[in-house]
Amino acid sequence: MVRPATAVTSAVLFFVHASAVITLPPGANTGQNLLPNIDDPNAVNAQTACPGYTATNMQTSNHGMTATLSLAGDACNAYGTDVDSLDLTVEYQANDRLNIELVPSHIDSTNSSWYILPETLVPKPQSEQANADDSDLKFTWSNKPSFNFKVTRRSTGDVLFNTEGTVIVFENQFIELVSSLPEDYNLYGLGERMHGLRLGNNFTATTYTADNPDPLDVNIYGFHPFYLDTRYYEVDGDGSYTYVPADTADASKNYVSRSHGVFLRNAHGQEVLLRPDNITWRTIGGSLDLYFYAGPSQAEVTSNYQASTIGLPAMQQYWTFGYHQSNWDWPNWDTLEQVVANFSMYAIPLETMWSDIDYMDQYRNFQNDPVNYPYDQGADFIDSLHQNGMQYVPIVDPIIYYPNPNGDTADYAPYDRGTEANVWLTNPGGSVYIGAGWPGYTVYPDWHHPNTSAWWLNELALWGQSIKFDGIWIDMNEVSSSCVGSCGSAYVTQDAEHEARDFEVAADATSTASYLVTTPTPGVRDINYPPYVINHVQPGHDLAVGAVSPNATHIDGVQEYDVHNLYAYQETNGTYQALTQIIPGKRPFILSRSTFAGSGKWAAHWGGDNIADWLHMYLSIPQALSFSLYGIPMFGVDTCGFEGNTDEELCNRWMMLSAFFPFYRNHNCIGSIPQEPYQWTTVTQASKFIMGIRYALLPYMYTLFHDAHTTGSTVMRALAWEFPDDPSLAAVDRQFLLGPSLMIIPVLDQGATSVDGVFPGIAQGEIWYDYYMQTEMAVEAGVNTTLDTPLGHIQLFIRGGSVLPMQQPALVTRDVRNSPWSLLVALSGNGTAKGSLYVDDGESIVQNATLSVDFKANTTDTETGSASSSLYASVSGDFQDTNALGNVTILGVSSVGNVTFNGNAVGSDSIAYNEESKVLIVNGLLDLTQSGAWDQDWVLSW
Ligand code: NOJ
Repeated sequence: MVRPATAVTSAVLFFVHASAVITLPPGANTGQNLLPNIDDPNAVNAQTACPGYTATNMQTSNHGMTATLSLAGDACNAYGTDVDSLDLTVEYQANDRLNIELVPSHIDSTNSSWYILPETLVPKPQSEQANADDSDLKFTWSNKPSFNFKVTRRSTGDVLFNTEGTVIVFENQFIELVSSLPEDYNLYGLGERMHGLRLGNNFTATTYTADNPDPLDVNIYGFHPFYLDTRYYEVDGDGSYTYVPADTADASKNYVSRSHGVFLRNAHGQEVLLRPDNITWRTIGGSLDLYFYAGPSQAEVTSNYQASTIGLPAMQQYWTFGYHQSNWDWPNWDTLEQVVANFSMYAIPLETMWSDIDYMDQYRNFQNDPVNYPYDQGADFIDSLHQNGMQYVPIVDPIIYYPNPNGDTADYAPYDRGTEANVWLTNPGGSVYIGAGWPGYTVYPDWHHPNTSAWWLNELALWGQSIKFDGIWIDMNEVSSSCVGSCGSAYVTQDAEHEARDFEVAADATSTASYLVTTPTPGVRDINYPPYVINHVQPGHDLAVGAVSPNATHIDGVQEYDVHNLYAYQETNGTYQALTQIIPGKRPFILSRSTFAGSGKWAAHWGGDNIADWLHMYLSIPQALSFSLYGIPMFGVDTCGFEGNTDEELCNRWMMLSAFFPFYRNHNCIGSIPQEPYQWTTVTQASKFIMGIRYALLPYMYTLFHDAHTTGSTVMRALAWEFPDDPSLAAVDRQFLLGPSLMIIPVLDQGATSVDGVFPGIAQGEIWYDYYMQTEMAVEAGVNTTLDTPLGHIQLFIRGGSVLPMQQPALVTRDVRNSPWSLLVALSGNGTAKGSLYVDDGESIVQNATLSVDFKANTTDTETGSASSSLYASVSGDFQDTNALGNVTILGVSSVGNVTFNGNAVGSDSIAYNEESKVLIVNGLLDLTQSGAWDQDWVLSW
């Protein structure tokens, strides 16, 4: 039954430039008005309506089991057609990874009724075929009253996932799996969304990639069907574990935590209902391909998830950690030149200049505006950036201008070549799908087509002959379209002018008076209006609004409905491969707005169109930490805010906060007041100050990033991950760590001149040093400490026990890399410290030689047994770095004896020791390390 929609008002189009030509038909982006199932009081409850399954034909082995699941009663066909028979495979793929997969038993390629995600699109992890007995995870099942299963952690006896008392629903357009969860559970992930780090216990997480400017709590650009579940326990004398809700934990008691991760390898629109005592996972197609990661720490879960399943994050070039300036609405090259000159005049570090769509000729990709962005001026500009150690990154959209065949602007070679190669998404009947975007009517590269990557590479390469970009920014790849369906098919020839235009489609005003409700037809999928309506963010919740519609068709017959969330993932891969050819040998730098699980192996991500307000500045922290969990550590947001006008105070605080995010970019929306850091004196000062610290710490950050790239560790870290046994940290997301050693407590409130922060681990003997004063903080365990933080300051602390490798700040990272080294050693309460440094050429994908240094400090010289304190540097690898060691600063030193470097006495005029602050500074090492700080192993004793 289809009830017609009524009273759906038309879309409102508004135009940024008054002179633009309106050609979109009215109501072009108005979809149907759909009532999300979670809001529908009459929605069928599949749990009561559906029969579940019965398992038969079990085959068990050491590695797992297989079985057939048959419908345990009459089909309910709640939101699709029930699949009568499913194949269950349970596999202990590794000691710390369990896979549970349910797929229809008879997948028939002629049956378009369901779509199973192929490994060619999203690879499955390799199975090591572990033995069930070697795993901490244990799968058990029962047929009473219908098939249900449990995943238990052997070492604690805790049930991690339990579908007992629920039914599994498996239909062609609706799959539902319900598990109980403990009281006040701590779940993280299931993004992308703007939300606190810890998801609530009464929250619905909808995921479907959407072009939407960072509204709260709903689905936005990325798709990451993964969650981390952290549980705290009291361990009794007999070794038994009792679960403790984090909120009820008693600060005077000791707890331990265990974390596990769950990934649903499924690319369809999803909805996860988090309710006080359970989780309901729903998806509108595909299969159930669940992976459990045993951890038991967050670090192990995250590392295993990346290393085994989605891929480790791409290593980035050194320069990408410098400061990036962007803006939408720089009208010409002259403006970019002026911006660079301003940075230089104020001596503010500037690493990379970005171009938004302003540079394009009528918003057509791969073509510069000949008047305002001519190629010759661009070539000179980019050349001068390069000569001065800077870079240039332009935007490219996957929305390709479709010339009016009857118009006089039909000559758009990238389109012609794409048409020749047949690379566009089509309508179900085979005609080209024509949506709308910045340039007007648009077509979309079909990444399933074997010719598309070559076409994309060719266009980037041809354009790149004139515009020597250093990376590519890919936007609008959810994939966005400003009208429903192939709106251009009927209109494109009617618009004789078919000029490019600036337009946006305002939120469609849809009425709530009447909804389109579809009910399933057995055996037939309704991909345009699926019977189960996810709470999709777009007006009317229609999947076709603001995006290429679900019925757009790929060359292999696959429809967008089934792969929508993968559009950017494939585009990112295509762009990565292209950049390896255009800039041979160098690590591609790609910034993508939309992401899927695993996008990190090719790209960085920014937080999208945030708002220039205090709330969004705070939300940048949980958003970044969530992307740490998703394996996309190269993350940052539009610093100072994108939409709306920022102000001096906000921009000041935000420039300081973002300095501790791996990707540090200020980007602004058209129509907003300028917000480069030199726009206000106090922001200039604050930015220069904090960039000085960031740039000095780049060796630490680059090393952390290399660790992430090689092991799947995280760069930005939640306190709960570094201090896993403290339940009071479970939801902390207003302060964070950069690696294990630095803690940042930013001011996040307007008008505030102080900030409250906690110092984790104090009860266990952890000590923290103020970064600026270099002295130990006198703070109490578990107490929110108020810290005076006037504008222009950000709280930064070093964890005792750390060695931070540093260099000298400069205006560009190239010059940082050529400056003397220094070490900042913060001794633990026991007088120990450790750290590491990774050095390479900073740009090549494949390194001929690399260098690693391990640092270790002891109070007792282990070799001689003497009471002196020493710092050891152990060097491995052949990469030649000839920068000498400038100085070593050691915090927390209680006494100083003879200071020697590799046995050579260091002159007293090179030593500064302050008994009160306990800071020892050893200078005068340049001469002793002339051939390079890491030329050989060394020991510094004091
Ligand atoms: C949307 C992007 O999110 C934003 O960063 C960009 O400025 C605009 N598109 C214009 O390209």
